[in-house]
This record gives sequence, C-alpha cells and structure tokens, in this order.
Amino acid sequence: HQDRAIRPKTLEDYIGQPVVREQMEIFIGAARARNEALDHTLVFGPPGLGKTTLANIIAVEMGAAIKSTSGPVLEKAGDLAAMLTNLEAGDVLFIDEIHRLNPAVEEVLYPAMEDYQLDIMVGEGPAARSIKIELPPFTLVGATTRAGLLTSPLRDRFGIVQRLEFYNEDDLSYIVSRSGLLLGLEVDSAGAREIARRARGTPRIANRLLRRVRDYAQVKGDGTVDLACADAALNMLNVDAQGFDHMDRRLLLTLMEKYDGGPAGVDSLAASIGEERDTIEDVLEPYLMQQGYITRTPRGRMATRLAYLHFGLQLPTRFGQQD
Ligand code: ADE
Repeated sequence: HQDRAIRPKTLEDYIGQPVVREQMEIFIGAARARNEALDHTLVFGPPGLGKTTLANIIAVEMGAAIKSTSGPVLEKAGDLAAMLTNLEAGDVLFIDEIHRLNPAVEEVLYPAMEDYQLDIMVGEGPAARSIKIELPPFTLVGATTRAGLLTSPLRDRFGIVQRLEFYNEDDLSYIVSRSGLLLGLEVDSAGAREIARRARGTPRIANRLLRRVRDYAQVKGDGTVDLACADAALNMLNVDAQGFDHMDRRLLLTLMEKYDGGPAGVDSLAASIGEERDTIEDVLEPYLMQQGYITRTPRGRMATRLAYLHFGLQLPTRFGQQD
C-alpha cells in the first residue's frame, strides 16, 4: 500500500492542525538553533489524524533519525533498553500507543527521559546488580489516543504536549486533492469535497475512501473522481451523507432505540453493540461528540436532538415542543 508516498514529510506539507504546526515550528526552530535535542513530545488524539506522521516530520525537521516502536511491543525492560542504547544524539524515539507500556518498562523510561540515563537490573538472584548507562540526548515522541490514559508521572515528563483535532472540510478536501495528485488520479474539486465531507474529519479515512472511489471510477466510470462518482461509491460503501459508517449508526441507533436516548453507560452500550469499550471511547465517540450527536453526562452517554433528526426519529418529550 502506497501510504508512505502520500504522507507529508515536512511541516510545510502538513495540512491543517494550525496550532500544532505553529508551535512545533517554533519549538523545533529553537532547539535546532541551540543545537539541542527537541524536548520530549506527547501527541494525542483519535486514530488516523496523523500522530505517526507528525513524529516522522519532527525527525525530518530536526535532521535526525527516527526509531519507531509501540507500547505493547516493548514487553520487557530489556526491550526498551535495547532501543535506547541504539540511539544517537538528537534522534527521535517514537513510541506509539505509549499508554500500553508495561509498568516495569515505564519505570526505565523515567530516568531515561529526565536525565538521559539508563538504569537497569542485570542478572538474577545473588548476582543481580543495577547498572547505569549514559544515553545521548534524544527526543521521545509518544502517541496515544487520549492523554488521560497515561499515568501522571509519565505525562509529566513530556515538555511538549500536542492534541490533534479533527480536520475541517476545507483541510480534508485539500488533503484528498493532494493525495489524488500524488496517486496520479484525476479528482475534481466537488469529488474531493464529497470525500472530505464524509471522512469523519480523519485523513486516514479520507485517503482510504479516495482509493475505493478510485476503484469505482475505474470500473464504473471513466476513471475521473467527480461528485457523482464519489457519491455513488460512498453510498455503495455504506458511508452515509454525514460520513457515518455502519458502527456509528449502530451506536447511535442503539442509544436511541434501546436506551431511549440515554443516559447509558459505555459498558452497557459496548455489550449491546458487540464492540470493545475502548473502540467506543477511542474511535466512535470522539467524532460523534465533536459533531454534536452524543453528549457525555455523569450518568452516561446521551443522544442529542441532532441524532434524532439525522435518523428521522420521533424526538422524545424531554426535548420539549417542536414547531
Ligand atoms: N495526509 C494525512 N494527513 C495529512 C496532513 N495533515 N497533511 C497533508 N497530508 C496528510
């Protein structure tokens, strides 16, 4: 898959996320001018918004190498030690899903982040001893879906924290057009906008939909991605006019039809729709909340008026009189 070809490589090519871009330009520019490693950076936000892309861009902009791994892959302290001792001055160590680090591995990360020191036990029983190794200055870039998933000692050790937001339609349209160009595809502006509109504010989804619309255009049309073709392909893919997919609709309809609009606890909802709680909290809910279809209350999730209107369902009386 040609994902690598369409990923932006520099901050200048990175579309949207204006706050992140402006701040990172300053922090990277300053660190470079001082000839220092960039401070440790935590990037959080829903899947598909470009956390890995941003980590790679940071390395490119710092003129450094990147070594990538993920929380669940680092099973033992020694796995992390091996990564850390492989770094050169200024390198970026990218740990995806950093909230899933084993506590024993996380312990090793603290002195490494704080003092560039590796503190590790070698051997077992009476021969066991602790050794300290100096590490070169490096930048840890950690990625997670929600900052709240990190333990506070870990979160506190990041000097830079960036939250990625869902992309607006203009930025996503631009991303789709750019991807079209890089894939050698003819995408007109209305076609790009239709894909953008129905991509849940998420570049990864927009790029995936673009590939499927391309298939459709190739087989059913003349290869050009225009509005009619995008609309027909997206309908075929069961992506509705609002960009909701099968699981979004299932969650919303269950909340409205089975729980009378809520409040419903996330565990009950997860059981009802046969999804993991984490999938609801990390993937489904953030977009539905940002778009105003679901709200979170202390007693559980609730469907909003907008949700009823979208599905053409009768509004419960709690919404008051309709005119
Ligand atoms: N592809 C995925 N995310 C992107 C972004 N933020 N800018 C440009 N292209 C992208």
